[in-house]
Amino acid sequence: MKHLVIYSSETGNTKKVAEAIYKVMPDETDLCNVGEVSSFDKYDFIAFGCWIDRGTADKKALVAIENIKNKKVAVFATLGAYPDSQHAVDSMERIKKLFIDNENSIVGEFICQGKVDPRLTEKFKSLPADHPHAMNEERIKRHKIAAMHPNDEDFANAQRKFKELFEK
Ligand SMILES: Cc1cc2nc3c(=O)[nH]c(=O)nc-3n(C[C@H](O)[C@H](O)[C@H](O)COP(=O)(O)O)c2cc1C
Repeated sequence: MKHLVIYSSETGNTKKVAEAIYKVMPDETDLCNVGEVSSFDKYDFIAFGCWIDRGTADKKALVAIENIKNKKVAVFATLGAYPDSQHAVDSMERIKKLFIDNENSIVGEFICQGKVDPRLTEKFKSLPADHPHAMNEERIKRHKIAAMHPNDEDFANAQRKFKELFEK
């Protein structure tokens, strides 16, 4: 059985989580960026990582998901929102559904916060107050907290979850 840890990451957050997960995977595991894999045939288990873009997987991840069929998949993701928010739950459910619709089985999941690109934060700050993404005190606080993630605790939590999958 050959395993794959594959990730899509624009600013490095999801890549760091992928690298942490890779460290606890069995010997027969490859670590790749989404652009590097064209065929998933040789893999049985895929740990799939992406960042949340407008409530679902980012565009590069969406393209890769289309090519993954009949695999055991564990999804991991990073996002700006809190990991226990409804937005995080809904985003993860959307991604899992994409895999399930492609005849894959979901065997695990992990989500944590990731630093939001400061350019996006600045853009939000310039929006009028009545815009749905306008920055308010709560959002400024959330972006500040996101800026501290992923951290060592997130890496340890991700590793624990993925280790458990192979101890079953
Ligand atoms: C264009 C854009 C859209 C985003 N959309 C969302 C979103 O819908 N929900 C959310 O919680 N975070 C959102 N984020 C924040 C990212 O998901 C988060 O910063 C993530 O950790 C980035 O991962 P990366 O460093 O691997 O690229 C968005 C970021 C960008 C740049």
